[in-house]
Amino acid sequence: FRTAAVIPAAGRGVRLGPGAPKALRALNGTPMLIHAVRAMAASRAVSLVVVVAPPDGATEVKHLLAEHALPDRTDFLVVPGGESRQESVKLGLDALPPGFDVVLVHDAARPLVPVDTVDAVIEAVREGAPAVVPALPLADTVKQVEPRADGSPEPVVATPERARLRAVQTPQGFDHDTLVRAHESVTENVTDDAGMIEQLGLPVVVVPGHEEAFKVTRPLDLVLAEAVLARRRA
Ligand code: CTP
Ligand code: MG
Repeated sequence: FRTAAVIPAAGRGVRLGPGAPKALRALNGTPMLIHAVRAMAASRAVSLVVVVAPPDGATEVKHLLAEHALPDRTDFLVVPGGESRQESVKLGLDALPPGFDVVLVHDAARPLVPVDTVDAVIEAVREGAPAVVPALPLADTVKQVEPRADGSPEPVVATPERARLRAVQTPQGFDHDTLVRAHESVTENVTDDAGMIEQLGLPVVVVPGHEEAFKVTRPLDLVLAEAVLARRRA
């Protein structure tokens, strides 16, 4: 098996507030993207990492990869991203050279995922699953609501049984040809890549996720990420 990781990193990070594109913001002095690249390259199975850079940031990302220490056994490619995450992932897939049968898709915004989680995802794809997602049980109860355009209080329409819900993380792992087919045929808006595999009617399986694979989305997440890094160094 040959495994490549595609890292969509082209988003602005609107929810994080004003500043540089999210993937280029620093965590304890190192850009979030470099943490995410290291997290993928930490797996001995990953021999290529494709970074999907902010549309006008490909040159800057190439410089960042050159100036930070990364494993020699891993190759790196940088391509400019698109308007949506889905489009950015597709641009990353298009840049893959032939010969990769397993593909990971990993958010640059999940810089701290442990290597054991990455390896567990890869292992499940190697064992034959076309799509694998790391996921965790939820702490909060989740309600489905009926959104109101006028801003009035939203009525609750359902409460799915919490024990059967999972919060899904990345890296998500795929059989290469299946993921390419999904990106060529699925047009509906999906918020993750595994959702496209579900729309093809193919099975997606879950492996245990990790608390440290949380997504840096809002300002408080930066505080948490820096605390996790500080704890790792202690
Ligand atoms: N992403 C991307 N291309 C886009 C939009 C998002 O590559 N056009 C990437 C982000 O860089 C991020 C991942 O998809 O690594 C997950 O998206 P999210 O956390 O939503 O990041 P942003 O879209 O940048 O943040 P926001 O939605 O707050 O603007
Ligand atoms: Mg987004």
